[in-house]
Amino acid sequence: MQAGCHALFRRGGSLMRHSAKLMLPSARAGTTSLSARQRAPSATPALCDQYFKRDVSTSVTSDLHRPQPGLVSASQGHNTLKVFWREGEPEEFPYVWLKDNCQCPACFLSTASSRVARVSNLSLDVRPKDVHVSPDGESLTVVWEDGHEGTFEAGWLHERAFNPTQQDLHQNFYKLRPELWNSDMSQRIPRASFDELMEDDAALLKMLECMEVLGLTVVSGARLQEGELHRLSERVSYLVPTHYGTTFTVKNKADPSNPAYTGKFLDLHCDLAFLHYKPCVQLLHCVTQFSGDGGDSILADSHYVAAKMRELYPEKFHLLAEILVDFRDAATDEGLQFDIIARRPMISLKPTGEIDTVNISTTGRDSHLGVTPEEAVSWYDAYLTYCDLLYSPENHFTYKLESGEILIVDNHRILHGRTAYQAYAGERHVQGGYWDWDMMRSRRRVLQRKLKGSS
Ligand code: OGA
Ligand code: ZN
Repeated sequence: MQAGCHALFRRGGSLMRHSAKLMLPSARAGTTSLSARQRAPSATPALCDQYFKRDVSTSVTSDLHRPQPGLVSASQGHNTLKVFWREGEPEEFPYVWLKDNCQCPACFLSTASSRVARVSNLSLDVRPKDVHVSPDGESLTVVWEDGHEGTFEAGWLHERAFNPTQQDLHQNFYKLRPELWNSDMSQRIPRASFDELMEDDAALLKMLECMEVLGLTVVSGARLQEGELHRLSERVSYLVPTHYGTTFTVKNKADPSNPAYTGKFLDLHCDLAFLHYKPCVQLLHCVTQFSGDGGDSILADSHYVAAKMRELYPEKFHLLAEILVDFRDAATDEGLQFDIIARRPMISLKPTGEIDTVNISTTGRDSHLGVTPEEAVSWYDAYLTYCDLLYSPENHFTYKLESGEILIVDNHRILHGRTAYQAYAGERHVQGGYWDWDMMRSRRRVLQRKLKGSS
């Protein structure tokens, strides 16, 4: 880190381990204004499976148990090697791919899972001189024309077969497929226990799966003091610092640098849409909940709403996906003056056309719009249509966090808001922070292999 940089991340200190002495767990405090229908099931740790609608036995960690048949023989074609298995269809592997992925120690550094063969050693014309399958069918050895030799395990090859089934299984290992939801989520909010997450890898894996599939979790049993996000982060991901610090305290403040630091109603939003690196996952640890009415969290799946919009109003959907909007944060927080701008569409699509993220924030959206007045009116029409869908009762719900609960949401997908509370009438104290999807998925994959066996 350059000299002076640390000043940017003054709040919450460094990424180093938090060493504060921690209190004993307290009884849950606070009352909620939720009806019984809206109330989440009582803290039942590590039961995420029951919240998935699809059959997880074929879609999540059990993918790692897929059968890997042994080899029978291999025959050389023009550009590809055709491999015959004890069961199932034969598979073709391009020669150039086999050579590129040679697993011998000269070509592949296994401790780093990295190719070390130079690209200059690769040619499209590479051809085997000889290919043979081991007598037990567990491996295949290729001898190349230049005499270089490499052996491939049958299971390793089978996992990398180019057929759609294997590619789909790998896609689900890369990113678990999301399950979109509407207000029915109020009945099945995934829950986890703080202590279990700290001690039990299986509970942690379930929570990470829930985050990828459903995009939210409520963790109960955190202590009623700041610092719990640092503790939990040691198990999951580093906390991602922003101009609000490594963590930030959400309380009613004098001269607030952010509308969250007041008792005002916060519309459904994602956090920090004005950063090009919009934080991936948001954590909100409710240290003290407001004891009167208000301070409830509002939650919605922006991808579900966007998919509905695409179906019902395709033209308006495309306007939101095409017109760029400025998001801006200009204020001074604890002595740091900033003016941050990111220009992006409200609905951002992946190159495949799938919804990537929805950038919606009443408070963070700026007033500049780089379009004609007429286009601006059309954009507002589309935006308000999206909001009508978002705020219709079947598409969002409220949940009042209790003191000691941590709300974790996918900030690229799940919108959160807060009902107003009378800040002068009592205390409300939340500590916030952000995680990174790369590290969370990495943790999930490592735990999957550790707990369910490697493929
Ligand atoms: C925030 C926020 C919600 C809350 O700080 O970004 O949305 O419950 N806070 O205070
Ligand atoms: Zn927020």
